[in-house]
Amino acid sequence: MTTTTSQLFRASIADAKAIHDLVNTFARKGEMLPRTMAEVYENLRDFYVVRDETNETVACGGLHILWEDLAEIKSLAVREDMQGQGLGQRIVDACLDEARSIGLTTAFALTYRPGFFEKLGFAQADVMTLPRKVWGECYRCPKFPGCNEIAMVRAL
Ligand SMILES: CC(C)(COP(=O)(O)OP(=O)(O)OC[C@H]1O[C@@H](n2cnc3c(N)ncnc32)[C@H](O)[C@@H]1OP(=O)(O)O)[C@@H](O)C(=O)NCCC(=O)NCCS
Repeated sequence: MTTTTSQLFRASIADAKAIHDLVNTFARKGEMLPRTMAEVYENLRDFYVVRDETNETVACGGLHILWEDLAEIKSLAVREDMQGQGLGQRIVDACLDEARSIGLTTAFALTYRPGFFEKLGFAQADVMTLPRKVWGECYRCPKFPGCNEIAMVRAL
C-alpha cells in the first residue's frame, strides 16, 4: 500500500539534516553504515526523499553512479513508523527508473535487508563480483574486510 499523502521528491538542501538523522538513526542500531553531514551534502544530488503531509522528510535513498554500467542504491532509510507503506519501494523504483533513463545496465545495494531487495527483483551476489565498489570504497571502510552486508544485484 502507498500512502496518498506522502510524496516523492528530489532532495533539496532543506532535506539534508533529515537525511543525516534518518541514516544515522539506523546506523546506531547497526542496520546500515553511518554517513557524515559532509557526505550527505556532497552526494545530495543523488538523493530522493519522501515528505509527509506536514512536509517532514520521512524516507530517503539515493542512486550513486560508480561506472559506465554500474550504480548503487545507497542510504535507503524509511522512518520506523512509516515502514511497510511502500515508501522504500517508491524510492528504489525512482532510482531504477533514473538509472535506466541514463543508460546504466546494473544496479546493486549492500544491505542487511536482502528480503526487501529480493522482493524488488534483486538477486544475491558475491560482493567480489563488484570490484569497483570493493576497491573504490569498501576498502576504506572500518568494517573492511569483515563486512557482513549482503550484495543484491539487479540487471536493468
Ligand atoms: C528496508 C526498508 C528500506 C524497507 O522500506 P519499507 O518502506 O518499509 O518497505 P516497502 O513498504 O516499500 O516494502 C516493499 C515490499 O517489500 C517487502 N519488504 C519490506 N521489508 C522487507 C524485508 N525486510 N524482508 C522482506 N520483504 C520486505 C514489503 O512487504 C513489500 O512487499 P509487498 O509489496 O508484497 O507488500 C526499511 O525497512 C528501512 O528503512 N529499514 C532500515 C534501514 C535499512 O535497513 N535500509 C536498507 C539499507 S540498504
